[in-house]
Amino acid sequence: MYSRIAGTGKYLPERVLTNFDLEAMVDTTDEWIRTRTGIERRHLVADDEFTSDLAYNASLAAIEDAGLDPRDIDFILVGTTTPDLIFPNVGCLVQERLGIRGVPAFSLEAACSGFLYALGVADQFVRGGQAKCALVIGAEAMSRIVDWTDRETCVLFGDGAGAVILERADDPGIMYSSLGADGRYRDLLYASSGVSVAPKDKEGAALRMKGNEVFKVAVKTLGYMVDEVLEKNGLEQGEIDWFIPHQANIRIIQAMARRLQMPMERVVLTIKEHGNTSAASVPMALDTAIRDGRIKRGDLLLLEAFGGGFTWGASLVRY
Ligand code: UT7
Repeated sequence: MYSRIAGTGKYLPERVLTNFDLEAMVDTTDEWIRTRTGIERRHLVADDEFTSDLAYNASLAAIEDAGLDPRDIDFILVGTTTPDLIFPNVGCLVQERLGIRGVPAFSLEAACSGFLYALGVADQFVRGGQAKCALVIGAEAMSRIVDWTDRETCVLFGDGAGAVILERADDPGIMYSSLGADGRYRDLLYASSGVSVAPKDKEGAALRMKGNEVFKVAVKTLGYMVDEVLEKNGLEQGEIDWFIPHQANIRIIQAMARRLQMPMERVVLTIKEHGNTSAASVPMALDTAIRDGRIKRGDLLLLEAFGGGFTWGASLVRY
């Protein structure tokens, strides 16, 4: 028994903050942001909009795309580091809004790798026969933990959500998942407070990153990971149809495309539109390229992400 992707969806909040808007907020330029990161704008949640709202809207789109009724879903898993509340978890909040009762609903936190972690876990539940139809979401309101006075990080992040429906199938679907973590790097990328570590001031949790050091470890680790995925699946470089990377920095993505010997036309790039949306970025990029007709049934996809922890993950998918 395997799982396959039956539908996808995404949701971006309406409010847009451009690089030019940021020029008026911190000492930065549109030119610096575009050339160093590939980002032009990002979407931000409204004051009364929360991660579960983004997740709910992306889920509705995915459920419709799969041609299902919400009551067909028997497993809900959300990758997020910016939940609405300490509890109930975002999975439960989405479950309630979708009118689903009784099925397991939870969230996991693996920062930018959250969706790849969630996909890997949900795949195991479907393969193990414990779920027939899983709703897997990556959703973040990063703007709530960004320090809007820190030019080194505030220009990078945005809000959004992507969702995928995983259904039981006789043939794979999700062919291979690779997940990893290394807690020694905690100080290179973290939020300054949480629950048992209380905020030191009224500012609350603030995202902190040593960007240049993160960049180097990300390129090295993702490189090893994509090599491993190819080797374990007997694939040569260039055999992947579409590369769907975490949208953190265009220069990291270009380095990975070179490693995979893939032309940039075969790489799904959405970073320009919404910056780094953490766990939401991979499912949103996947949905974008499926809906615009680039990704077709039968195509071989490689999804990957890297983020705070450090955590990382990849998934080889036959769409
Ligand atoms: O999603 C989780 C994983 N996260 C990532 O993968 C992010 C990885 N890191 C990156 O994407 C890049 O390291 C950044 C985009 C964060 C930074 O790019 P960089 O090429 O590594 O720049 P840098 O940190 O080495 O800084 C270069 C210069 C510095 O000035 P000096 O020291 O050369 O005078 C910075 O102060 O750019 C300066 N700088 C800025 N200038 C204008 C840093 N941020 C800005 C800014 N606007 N927003």
